[in-house]
Amino acid sequence: MSRHENSAGQQPQGRPRPTAPALVTGATSGLGRSLARALADRGWTVLVHGRDRDRCAAVVDELRTAGGTAHPYLADLSSLRETAELGRRVAADHPSLGLLVNNAGVGAGRDARRREVSRDGYELRLAVNYLAPVVLTRVLRSPLRAAGSAQVVNIGSIGQSPVDPDDVQFTRGYDGMEAYTRSKFALAAFTLTIAEEYAVDGIRVNCVHPATYMDTTMVTEAGVRPWTSVSQGTEAVLRAIDEGARGASGEYYDEGRRARAHRLAYSAGVQRRLADLTDRLIAPVEEANGTTW
Ligand SMILES: NC(=O)c1ccc[n+]([C@@H]2O[C@H](COP(=O)([O-])OP(=O)(O)OC[C@H]3O[C@@H](n4cnc5c(N)ncnc54)[C@H](OP(=O)(O)O)[C@@H]3O)[C@@H](O)[C@H]2O)c1
Repeated sequence: MSRHENSAGQQPQGRPRPTAPALVTGATSGLGRSLARALADRGWTVLVHGRDRDRCAAVVDELRTAGGTAHPYLADLSSLRETAELGRRVAADHPSLGLLVNNAGVGAGRDARRREVSRDGYELRLAVNYLAPVVLTRVLRSPLRAAGSAQVVNIGSIGQSPVDPDDVQFTRGYDGMEAYTRSKFALAAFTLTIAEEYAVDGIRVNCVHPATYMDTTMVTEAGVRPWTSVSQGTEAVLRAIDEGARGASGEYYDEGRRARAHRLAYSAGVQRRLADLTDRLIAPVEEANGTTW
């Protein structure tokens, strides 16, 4: 019996102890770090993803010191090859995965007019906030299926604006906040698309807006005074995870409450066009790596 269980093998709130681990991307700061700690406190084995070895190790130490079980995983999610490798390493180490939280993200940035690109040459917000979760989720589908009733939680945002199919890389009239909201629209639409596809494997897929302007790096570096705390966002994500455990899938949660994503994210036509666009976008990287994701 772990320190998280009672004599009946139950968590304090009557939740069964998770048997398969949880992977949290971007667990080295802000919401991801807080969520990793909260999941460890709930008895999950947490796979702590980060891009910096020392900071990743520091979070793993923090979780272990608090009595949890945690393992570090490094990858730069601005490279789709590294993202896929992360998925393959996790799958090799853990043939069954109970929870994937696609949390890592890039905000509007210090200078919202400066268009940045990923290591593969994609617009950076699109790459890290959308393409990386797509690739990671696809690569991890098999261990998620193996867990029986696994969950994918995509950390979205209330800020969503449709992707421009004629300028998906946002080469004209660039604005970092608009790039961010486009990437979060794409993530919401992806959530709804795969929730249906993955239901056959018992995998629940939901999207969560944690809280508005939490006190995290991406908010302060954009020069915004925070409105909410990371602990509020963490509670909201945990509520969505509880809903998913009860069978909810294909849902969008706004601060923990069931809500509606952007209306176009529900359009079958928009979802199909986005899926085609996504496949075409990642094809050259797949080809260069001799694989499909
Ligand atoms: N803050 C808000 O008010 C708010 C509101 C709605 C949604 N969200 C979403 O919440 C999630 C967490 O953001 P946060 O607010 O906690 O911000 P944050 O403190 O800036 O955390 C972002 C995380 O993403 C990681 N990351 C960024 N680029 C990466 C890359 N190329 N490869 C690997 N990891 C990368 C960062 O790693 P490092 O630690 O190495 O920098 C960090 O761990 C994001 O998806 C964000 O869009 C936030």
